[in-house]
Amino acid sequence: MSARTRVAIIGAGPAGLLLSHLLGRCGVESIVIDSRTREQIESTIRAGILEQGTVEILAETGVSDRVLTVGQKHEGIELRVAGEGHRIDFTDTVGRAVWLYPQHEVLKDLIAARLGAGQDLRFGTTAVRVEDATTSRPRVIAKDAEGRTVEIEADVVVGADGSRSVAREAVTGTYGGYFREYPFAWFGILCEAPPSSEELIYSNSPNGFALISQRSPEVQRMYFQCDPDTDTEVYTEEQLWEILQSRVPGTTLNEGRIFQRDVLRFRSFVAHEMRRGRVVLVGDAAHTVPPTGAKGMNLAVADVILLTEALRALLLDQDETLLDAFPETARHRVWKAQHFSWWMTNMLHLEPGASDFDRLRQIGELRSVVESRAGRTYLAEAYTGWPL
Ligand code: DHB
Repeated sequence: MSARTRVAIIGAGPAGLLLSHLLGRCGVESIVIDSRTREQIESTIRAGILEQGTVEILAETGVSDRVLTVGQKHEGIELRVAGEGHRIDFTDTVGRAVWLYPQHEVLKDLIAARLGAGQDLRFGTTAVRVEDATTSRPRVIAKDAEGRTVEIEADVVVGADGSRSVAREAVTGTYGGYFREYPFAWFGILCEAPPSSEELIYSNSPNGFALISQRSPEVQRMYFQCDPDTDTEVYTEEQLWEILQSRVPGTTLNEGRIFQRDVLRFRSFVAHEMRRGRVVLVGDAAHTVPPTGAKGMNLAVADVILLTEALRALLLDQDETLLDAFPETARHRVWKAQHFSWWMTNMLHLEPGASDFDRLRQIGELRSVVESRAGRTYLAEAYTGWPL
C-alpha cells in the first residue's frame, strides 16, 4: 500500500498533532501515523504544566478553549528550602504565567480537532524506517495494525516520534547526540484527594526532594526523588504517604487513594542534527530534558511553531531559507531549556553520596535565588517560557 502527501509526520504526540494542525491551517496537507491506539495516546500520563506561549498557540489557533476553561492559571510556585517556603511570583517578576492542564488533555483536544478537520491520522501504524532523506521524495516505510507494509512518500518527513525515534537514524545515525544521565529518578503518584496547596511546591528538604503538583480539584500528582531502579510496587500506600509527608515539612498533605505509580528516569539529550535533507526531527525525537521544570512538551511546541513557518515557506513559496535556518534557531531555545532543566534539577536534588559540603552549598544556591529579585526573575522567565 502506498500513499503520497506533502508532509509525512511520524508520531501523534503533542509535536506531531500540533504540526499537522498548524500546517492544515496554512493549507498544507499531511499524514500522521502513530504505533499506539487513540486510547493509549489519550491515557498516557505526562507532565501538566503549559507555558504561557503554549497556551496562547492552542487557544488562538482554535485547538480548544478547554485549556482556558478547565486548565488553571498559576501565577507562581513555591520553592521550599530547608523547611522555609519562598514564593516565586511570576506576575510580579515577569508578567507571565503558566497553566496547569495535563498533557493527555492537550492530546485529547488535538486529536478531536484533527479528526474534526478530516486529518488523515493513522493509529496502530508503526514506522519502520525513513528512506531517501537527501532526495526531494523522502519516504516512510511503516507497518499497519494488520502487519501490512505501508509506504508514505512526501515532500518532507518529520520525526515527532519521541525519545525512541525511528526517524532519528535517518538524520543522525543511532547514537548521534549529546547525552547525560542522572543518578536519580522521580517516583510519581496520582491520588484521589483535594489539592494540598494552592500552588505547586518544589521542596528541597533534609529528607530529599518532593514536588507537590495537581491535576484537578479531585486528583493530585506528586513526585519524590528515588533511585532509578526503584520498583513501583515496593512501597505500601502508607509508606508512600510517609515519604511524601516527610519531604514537605510545614505542610500536611491531603491523602487519598493512590491509583497510579510510575518511575521517571532523568536524562538530558540533544541530537547532533535536527535535519538531514528533507527529514526533520522535532520534540523528544530531537531532545529530551529531565522533568524538573516541565519543559519537555513546551519545547516540542516551540520547535513546531518554527517548523511550521519553515515548511510553509518551502512548500508554498519554494523558499528553503527558513528550513535551512531551522536547526540553529530551534537549538538556541533547546540549549537554554536544557540548561534550565539541568539547573532546576541540580539545585533541588542531591546525588547519592553527596557530602555535607554539597548539601550546604546547594542551600546557599537556593537562598541566593529566592532572596534575590534577579534570581527569582530568571527562574520565572525560564519557567513561564521565553517568548516564542
Ligand atoms: C509536573 C511535572 C513537572 O516536571 C513539573 O516540573 C511540574 C509539574 C506535573 O506533572 O504536574
